[in-house]
Amino acid sequence: MLATAMRTLSSSGKWGRWAAMKKVGILGSGDVAQKLGAGFVASGYEVRLGSREPRSEKLAAWKLANGSAASTGSFEETAQFGDLLALATLWTGTENALRLAGLGHFAGKVVIDVTNPLVFHPNGLPSLAVGNTDSGGEQVQRWLPHSHVVKAFNSVGNAHMFRPDFPGGPPDMFYCGNDEAAKDSVKAILETFGWNPVDLGGIELARVLEPLCILWVAFMFHSGTPNHSLKMLHR
Ligand SMILES: NC(=O)c1ccc[n+]([C@@H]2O[C@H](COP(=O)([O-])OP(=O)(O)OC[C@H]3O[C@@H](n4cnc5c(N)ncnc54)[C@H](OP(=O)(O)O)[C@@H]3O)[C@@H](O)[C@H]2O)c1
Repeated sequence: MLATAMRTLSSSGKWGRWAAMKKVGILGSGDVAQKLGAGFVASGYEVRLGSREPRSEKLAAWKLANGSAASTGSFEETAQFGDLLALATLWTGTENALRLAGLGHFAGKVVIDVTNPLVFHPNGLPSLAVGNTDSGGEQVQRWLPHSHVVKAFNSVGNAHMFRPDFPGGPPDMFYCGNDEAAKDSVKAILETFGWNPVDLGGIELARVLEPLCILWVAFMFHSGTPNHSLKMLHR
């Protein structure tokens, strides 16, 4: 009976792609990559973090803390490794990271774009390097035309990316992308991570999703804490 159920599930494209995604490659070595990487390990994935310095002290500490399912590598080794990939790079370094990784290693894969195209200002809120008529998410999709880019996790601080715990229940995580099957995969990951996933539409919706990062940062400046997240009310 179980074997029949597994055969039925594996004959559907959705389960097939989901089942194949047990190796995650995250391009990045910062707080976001480390938090998401730990979350994926805790959720049963093998995870590799990619960096120009894969043997740095901070990555050695991350690897030690996350056990045998955790590894580090160059951007290229990481992009090769992952069936599912995520981008957690500084916006201004993102194109270079993709080039160092080798664009061919992204082809046909789901790529979760966590980046925000921020411009930092010494005494104020960051602003967006692109917006209104374009977005970072669309730029990433243009850099990776043969991949399925899904923008997600960009509208919350890294401390709450995995298992967000707020008194009002699971917060919303807005996401967008062009490929429905890729979005189904990311939706399932968001649910596993403890979010209420909210699909906004195609990748061009990154034009409204990326400014949510500025809203989140503005409230952090105002409240003095990073302990907030977004939720939409419906009726
Ligand atoms: N911090 C948050 O809570 C948060 C929340 C949501 C979204 N985001 C977005 O997530 C992304 C990652 O944020 P983060 O704070 O974890 O780290 P970050 O400091 O913004 O980025 C660190 C990563 O960017 C790479 N990088 C920087 N310059 C590069 C270059 N010229 N070429 C190639 N790679 C380069 C670094 O590579 P090396 O490892 O080689 O140094 C490192 O892996 C950003 O786009 C950020 O806007 C951040």
